[in-house]
Amino acid sequence: MILQSKQPNIGTTIFTIMSKLATDCGALNLSQGFPNFDCSPKLAELVTHYLKKGMNQYAPMAGIQPLREVIAQKISDLYGVNYHPDIEVTILSGASEAIYCAITAVVHQDDEVILLEPCYDSYAPAIKLSGGIPVYVTLTPEDDYRIDWAMVKSKITERTKLIILNTPHNPTGTVLSQEDLMKLADIVRDTNIFLIGDEVYEHIIFDGREHWSLLRNSVLQERSFICGSFGKTFHVTGWKIGYCLAPKALTEELRKVHQWITFSTVTPIQYALADFLREPNNYLSIPMFYQQKRDKFLDCIKDSRFTYTPAHGSFFQCVNYKNITDENDYDLAIRLTREIGVASIPVSAFYNFKNDYKTLRFCFAKDDETLEKAGERLCKL
Ligand SMILES: Cc1ncc(COP(=O)(O)O)c(C=O)c1O
Repeated sequence: MILQSKQPNIGTTIFTIMSKLATDCGALNLSQGFPNFDCSPKLAELVTHYLKKGMNQYAPMAGIQPLREVIAQKISDLYGVNYHPDIEVTILSGASEAIYCAITAVVHQDDEVILLEPCYDSYAPAIKLSGGIPVYVTLTPEDDYRIDWAMVKSKITERTKLIILNTPHNPTGTVLSQEDLMKLADIVRDTNIFLIGDEVYEHIIFDGREHWSLLRNSVLQERSFICGSFGKTFHVTGWKIGYCLAPKALTEELRKVHQWITFSTVTPIQYALADFLREPNNYLSIPMFYQQKRDKFLDCIKDSRFTYTPAHGSFFQCVNYKNITDENDYDLAIRLTREIGVASIPVSAFYNFKNDYKTLRFCFAKDDETLEKAGERLCKL
């Protein structure tokens, strides 16, 4: 029997490679993006409560009503934009599923999709599985990963169907500004281009910055799938639960895909999140919590030879190591895991052609002891 792979060039992801190596070497794992601390006990109690209460059968395809309602209320309170909970809010199994469904819903054979690289690794394979073509705009550390909107505009063709934006950004920690949204709106106004706003780090944003969600600009909002993740916001990445906000016509197409992938998402956790979200402090406290983590990590590496711009958002800090070695970033990430016991992600992994800007990404969603130990080791380089 011959199986012709639909993804012949896809191997094991860098996150799996580095996390496994970290485990094998007993290294501190600052590679993959997950916290090493637990969620709020209150949230865990709520899940237990609903499990015991018997909320254990299929949820409705779009998600349970109370959770869709509380999300719509939260978005209205925070940004003054109204989404109808019945027809414009959908609960999915993580932002990963939301992004996959949105891409699958709109991308046809030979459609082009603009990606700003470095970017999260799930986008390009999903585009290709739908027969689409990723078109890359490359952002570099020399320009502080600023988006060159003229360059984005120059990539638009008659075939451009979708642009994917991620703010706050993994891996670079940059965030979009209101001006970025206006420039993007100038590009897509009067076109049939859709947008995905990957906004999983919405609440992980620092130094008093505002989250400029795509939904805050009406030209962008009407064509956007806004994807969020409770895993990232509430330190429960293993629960794989997120949501998508999109105008009715877009939501209808998204749900058509979702119903054939997972159909519905884990029931007791939806009830627990609906209750938990009713207390705004549960998410409004997150920026300061993570800002302290970022500052702690930066304090721990301040005497190292790494150079960096403090992350503006997300739970990642990128550092440049030109002052330490000229090895490529992949080899260095592997060597540091083996030799000093600190795992990171080489940022080249987020570029289509594996551009090496001598940059490593560290995840600072870790307890202080782990950050201190990692800092001690990194300062010796
Ligand atoms: C930018 C970005 N988008 C999406 C995801 C996936 O989120 P989820 O775990 O909710 O599927 C991640 C997870 O690392 C991410 O960093």
